[in-house]
Amino acid sequence: MKTINPKETKTAEVHALLLGAIAPRPIAFASTVDEKGNVNLSPFSFFNVFSAKPPIVVFSPARRVRDNTSKHTLENVETTREVVINICNYDIVEQMSLASTEYDKGINEFIKSGLTPEPSVMVKAPWVKEAPVAMECRVNEVISLGPDGGAGNLVICEVLLIHVNENILNEEGKIDPYKLDAVARMGGDYYLRANGDSIFELPKPVRNKGVGVDQIPDFIRNSKLLTGNHLARLGNTEVIPTAEEVEAFKSDPLVSYTLSKYVHDKAQLRAELEKLGKKLLDDHQVLAAWKVLLMGE
Ligand SMILES: Cc1cc2nc3c(=O)[nH]c(=O)nc-3n(C[C@H](O)[C@H](O)[C@H](O)COP(=O)(O)O)c2cc1C
Repeated sequence: MKTINPKETKTAEVHALLLGAIAPRPIAFASTVDEKGNVNLSPFSFFNVFSAKPPIVVFSPARRVRDNTSKHTLENVETTREVVINICNYDIVEQMSLASTEYDKGINEFIKSGLTPEPSVMVKAPWVKEAPVAMECRVNEVISLGPDGGAGNLVICEVLLIHVNENILNEEGKIDPYKLDAVARMGGDYYLRANGDSIFELPKPVRNKGVGVDQIPDFIRNSKLLTGNHLARLGNTEVIPTAEEVEAFKSDPLVSYTLSKYVHDKAQLRAELEKLGKKLLDDHQVLAAWKVLLMGE
């Protein structure tokens, strides 16, 4: 393990480390106007949601590490106290990237990137018609995090109006992550496309109260085959099967052959049961996995 103290490290290096580690990051594609009404459009991956009531999102246009200058977006939000946060998906990722070019002040990146400005209802800046979601926001506060190059500026935005493209909704009217096809920023020039196998479901544990990894018997917990994720899957069960339930399961065709084959070789039997338990856990058959693993006692 390498250990880094930011105070003893060059800002550019700390910046690269943080951006590499804190990834993937969602992208706020921010449209603003200046005091004369000139439109600006730029992406910011220092971005997230922090509150639902009031609906608050925060993004951070930072002071440039290179020369300690600030971004047009920051100047615009400080002047107008308004912004539209557009969500970036795969269909517009290259146009978003092009819009990040450091064009001179007053240059409209909607025009440069070929995206379509759609008039907003509550704010002066237009939203991006091609974006799957756009949020018209009032800027409640701008908090400067420091005077040096690399310092962020938290732009605290209250969402006033949300435009959602109906094509990304499922039958229940909720956003379908596959249809959203979101992109996120990683370190360097890397991006992540959230679709296909990269999306998976993990039911929230708050719905039940799992026994916890600490309640798993040591002979299972110390298995070299089971990962931390496997153990957590076991620990997320509400009740551990009883000795009677384990006994009853011994006649199941899933295990009966293995049990009879290795009846005289306890170590090998436990190894085989661990393999089967792991497979069952991979298949989300947690209760059966518990029973099979407990047979190795
Ligand atoms: C995907 C992506 C994410 C970015 N995130 C940030 C960010 O969070 N903060 C920042 O200061 N600059 C970020 N940038 C760089 C700005 O977009 C870039 O400096 C842009 O020119 C600023 O434009 P402006 O001066 O018109 O506001 C990002 C660029 C890209 C392509």
